[in-house]
Amino acid sequence: MCGIVGYIGHRDACSIIIKGLKRLEYRGYDSAGIALYDGKGIYVSKIKGKVNDLEEKIASDKNTNGSIGIGHTRWATHGVPNDINSHPHYSNSRNLVIIHNGIIENYAAIKQELINRGYTFHSDTDTEVLVNLIEDVQKSGSYMLGKAVQIALNQVVGAYAIAVLDIKKPNEIVAARLGSPLAVGVGKDEFFIASDASPFIEYTSNAIYLEDEEMAIIRQHKEPRFRKIKTDLLFTPYVQKLKLNIEEIEKRGYEHFMLKEIFEQPQAIKDTYRGRLLVHNGLVKMSGIEDNLEKFLNAQKITIVACGTSWHAGLVAEYIFENLARIPVEVEYASEFRYRNPIVTNKDVVIAISQSGETADTLAAIKLAKENGAFVFGVCNVVGSSISREAHAGAYTHAGPEIGVASTKAFTTQISLLAMMALRLAKAKGTLSTSDFKRSLVALETIPSKIEIALKSDGLVKEIAENYKDATNFLYLGRGFNFPVALEGALKLKEISYIHAEGYPAAEMKHGPIALIDENMPIVVIATKYGHYEKIVSNVQEIKSRKGKIIGIVTEGDTQVKALADHVIEIPETSEFLSPLLTTIPLQLLSYHIAVLLEKNVDQPRNLAKSVTVE
Ligand code: G6P
Repeated sequence: MCGIVGYIGHRDACSIIIKGLKRLEYRGYDSAGIALYDGKGIYVSKIKGKVNDLEEKIASDKNTNGSIGIGHTRWATHGVPNDINSHPHYSNSRNLVIIHNGIIENYAAIKQELINRGYTFHSDTDTEVLVNLIEDVQKSGSYMLGKAVQIALNQVVGAYAIAVLDIKKPNEIVAARLGSPLAVGVGKDEFFIASDASPFIEYTSNAIYLEDEEMAIIRQHKEPRFRKIKTDLLFTPYVQKLKLNIEEIEKRGYEHFMLKEIFEQPQAIKDTYRGRLLVHNGLVKMSGIEDNLEKFLNAQKITIVACGTSWHAGLVAEYIFENLARIPVEVEYASEFRYRNPIVTNKDVVIAISQSGETADTLAAIKLAKENGAFVFGVCNVVGSSISREAHAGAYTHAGPEIGVASTKAFTTQISLLAMMALRLAKAKGTLSTSDFKRSLVALETIPSKIEIALKSDGLVKEIAENYKDATNFLYLGRGFNFPVALEGALKLKEISYIHAEGYPAAEMKHGPIALIDENMPIVVIATKYGHYEKIVSNVQEIKSRKGKIIGIVTEGDTQVKALADHVIEIPETSEFLSPLLTTIPLQLLSYHIAVLLEKNVDQPRNLAKSVTVE
C-alpha cells in the first residue's frame, strides 16, 4: 500500500510526480505529498486527501520548480490520515526527507532510543522514526546518505520501499526495497523511481525492478549505483523492456476504470488463452505446467493460497481441479496459512494466486511453503511482481493493468487460467475422456463471446440497481461452482457501495440467514441450468414464501426461476465448470451500478487499497 514516485533528470519534476501519483492512487489515497529540490532548498507540501487536493494546494506555490523530487500517496497504517502523518517526513535537522511504503515493525524501540538521544517526533508514523534513524547514523560517523541509509536499514525489521533526499547532497535520491515493490525507470539522462512502472511508462520502457534488500543511488547526470543492503556488494541490475502501453492505463471513454475493466473481460480472457488454448490441436500448453508436470501429477494435494477476490478464484479452482483432474485441493487464506503451522511437505504443490503479485500475506505464505519443501506455482497478473519471482514456476494471467480497486477482470482471467491448468492435468491423468476434454476446450474458447452477450444485460442490471440501491443488506446465494461467485458478488457490493452483503451456499441459508429474510431483503440467487438446479429452485421457493426480493441469475430460456423471481438476468448456457465466468458478470455490474447511483467513489472505495503490501 502507498505509492511512491521519484524523478531526477531535466524535466519539470513536479508535474511528473503529480501525474505519477495519480496513477498510483490505487495503492492508497488517504493523503498525498511531494518534496522538490529547486536548486536552493527542498520544498515540501502535503495534505490529507487525494492527489487532486495536493495539486490544488500547490497550484499557486512559486517554489515548485526543479527537476528533482519525490512524492507519496498514502494508505494509512501508523497514525490516522491527517496532514502531519502524511509523507514526506523531515528528519529533525530538516536536512533529510523521506517517503515510505511499508511498515517498520520495530519502530517503537528505535523511537525510544532516539528520544533518549534527544530526537523529537511530530507525527505518529514509523516513517518519521526511520528518517531520524538515518540522520542519527549520518551524524554518528559522518556517513554519506547512501551509506547511512544502508546502515539504518540493517537495523530495521519490517517492510519498506523508500526514497530519501538530502539537502546536503541534493542531486541524488537514495531508494531501497524490502517487501514493498520498487521500480527504477531508466531514461536518457533521467531516472524515475516508482512503486510500479505506470508513472514513467510514457518516458521510458527500460525498467529495473529492485529485489528485496537492494538499494539504488540515483544521481543527476551520472550512472546510478546499485548495492546489496546486507552484503554491501555493488551489482549490475537486469534492465527489463516493458510491454505496458499508456492506453492500457487510461479510461478510454469509460466513466470509471472498474466499468472499463468489466467490459474488457472478453479480450482479457483471450489474452490469457493466447498460445495456451490450442483447440485445433486439441491441446492446452503452458510451459510452467509442462516443465513441472511430474510435480503436479505426483502431488499429494494442492494447496491454494490467496487473499480477497483471488481467494474466491481459488475456491472456484478447487471445484474445477477436483472435478476434472481428481486432485485433492485445499484453499487457504494466505494470512491464516502463514501463521497456523500448516501441514505442508515436499509432496505438496502450493498455488499462490495474486493479481498484483505483491500481497504481503500471500508472499509470506509462499516463503513458508518453500521452507517446507513444497513446489510453489504462482498465478499472477503483474509481470515481474514479487510473487512471480518468488514462486518456483508460474503463469501470468495477462489481463492487462487492473486499476479499479474492486477486482473484476483479474478474477475471471484467474479462473480461466486455472481451468486450463486443470484440463491439462486431467488430460495427463486420464480423468477426462478425450471427447469431454475436447468439448471442454471448445467451451473455454467460446467464453469470451458469451461474456459479450452477458454484458448486454448492463441496461437491465442498471434498472434493477435503481430498485435496490437503498437496501441495507443483501444476500447472495449459489451452489457448487457458483458458491464462490456468491461470495465474490457480496464482496463486490460491500467494497464499493458499503452495503452489507453476505454470500452463502444456497442450502446453508436454512441454517441462519433465512432469519434475515423479509420483504426488504434483496437476495441474489445464482440458479443456472446445470448444478443442482432443482434444489436451487426449492431454495427460491423458500425465499418467496418469506417475501424476500429475488434477483435470479439464470440460463437463457429458464422458466421456473423466472416464474418465481422478482427479476431475472439471463446468461448464455455453458459447461457447468465454466459458469462462474458468466454468472459473475451481472454481479459485477450490479455492484457497479448501485455504487454509482449512491455516488460512491467506485474506483477508490474508502479504506481499501488495490495492493496490500502490509500484513
Ligand atoms: C486487496 C484488493 C482486492 C484483492 C486482494 C488480493 O484487498 O482490494 O481486490 O483481491 O487485495 O490482492 P491480490 O493482488 O493478491 O490478488
